[in-house]
Amino acid sequence: MEELFTPMKIGNRTAINRIVFNAMECSDALDNGDPSPATYKRYENYFKGRPGIVILEAITPQYDYIARKNQLSILEHNIPGLKKFISHLKEINSDTLIFFQITHSGEISSNIYSQRIRVTEEPLYGYEDAKLVREKEIEKVIEDYANGCRIAYEVGADGVDIKLCHGYLGTQILRPYNKDDWKYGGKWENRRQFAIDLYRRCRAVVPDEDFVFGSKISVYEGFPGGVGTAGPDSSVMDLTETIDLVKTLEAEGAHYILQSAGSPSHTLALAHPDRRVPDYAYIHHYFQKVLRDNLKPETKVIGSGYTIFRDGKQPFLAVKPEKNTLRFWGNKNIREGVVDAIAVGRQSFADPYLPVKMMEGREKEIKWCTLCDHCVELLIRQHHKVGCVTYDPYYTQAYLDMIKNEGHIKEKHT
Ligand SMILES: Cc1cc2nc3c(=O)[nH]c(=O)nc-3n(C[C@H](O)[C@H](O)[C@H](O)COP(=O)(O)O)c2cc1C
Repeated sequence: MEELFTPMKIGNRTAINRIVFNAMECSDALDNGDPSPATYKRYENYFKGRPGIVILEAITPQYDYIARKNQLSILEHNIPGLKKFISHLKEINSDTLIFFQITHSGEISSNIYSQRIRVTEEPLYGYEDAKLVREKEIEKVIEDYANGCRIAYEVGADGVDIKLCHGYLGTQILRPYNKDDWKYGGKWENRRQFAIDLYRRCRAVVPDEDFVFGSKISVYEGFPGGVGTAGPDSSVMDLTETIDLVKTLEAEGAHYILQSAGSPSHTLALAHPDRRVPDYAYIHHYFQKVLRDNLKPETKVIGSGYTIFRDGKQPFLAVKPEKNTLRFWGNKNIREGVVDAIAVGRQSFADPYLPVKMMEGREKEIKWCTLCDHCVELLIRQHHKVGCVTYDPYYTQAYLDMIKNEGHIKEKHT
């Protein structure tokens, strides 16, 4: 059996295969933060496609600091809507696991649709309008995350992804740039304490050993002072803190780490390897291996950045296309202990039936992501519903309308 289609134990649960649908925020919730018909349609297709795990897109446990309009929320009033949503998906397919990604946007919250907070006296360049906060506000953030986890459990999710990646608040606290001396700032032990307190509070509210905990992390954010650098103003990559972070999360009960890198607001091509710098995808493999080598075998490492490999028809040089496909690297990296499972983001938009088609040998029918990145452009605007502009006529038209009315984006980052 191909490695990608072997089952994988994760916590006390089993993923039916090793293809994970990465979290993909689509800004299409109803006004109260509940899943809308568009949200339903997307996840119904994901469940019909039979990946091992679906990471539900970033869902917010508060509505004051959000990155985009119409984000899904996980508050008391969302309980009936989310319950209905999960039981509907489980009726379609009871094998695929779903983990909710709980998030807070911090300084990269939208300054149009919400407000921004930051944790450093000296703002990160570009985020001067963020309000400085300290223990009191971060205590509330931890409480909100824990509430989110409690509700995720109550509505029938199989687990949670406590988001610590991509420049969102968790990353802002963990990174060396969080340099002031305060409870969760300055030396690494202080910054790491945030993750420890967060995990302890979140785990305490879910009294079920079968509920899966884990985090998507950026191993290296790719800019000076970012996660994975040697200091607040250093551009030198140093993974010492990242390695300690994942070991700490493991000790605090994480069953998996979802590897990522970069920050879509600052280093987009690193986070989503694209036609500009496809080769960043190989650096993801290295990061996956670093995590795999430093964690216990039972703590699963899920790797990001596999969409770009497609069927081998992509912008890479130096490698034969047939030895540079998503299927090739997925199987090889699992077989060789680089990673335990692979996650796809943009490819899950292009063809949510990818796992079932691959499994049944219907490779020719797969609609491969064209790497147009128009989905990212929709996301960048903060107020458009997001979907596949290449294969879904609704989003093709939405994209054309957006360009007609608002012009092209000036800078490619969220
Ligand atoms: C439209 C869009 C929405 C995204 N939303 C999220 C999100 O909610 N949470 C998250 O951690 N990453 C998010 N990402 C990043 C993806 O999960 C993934 O890490 C990235 O696209 C790289 O994987 P890929 O090369 O398979 O697309 C998003 C990416 C895109 C393009």
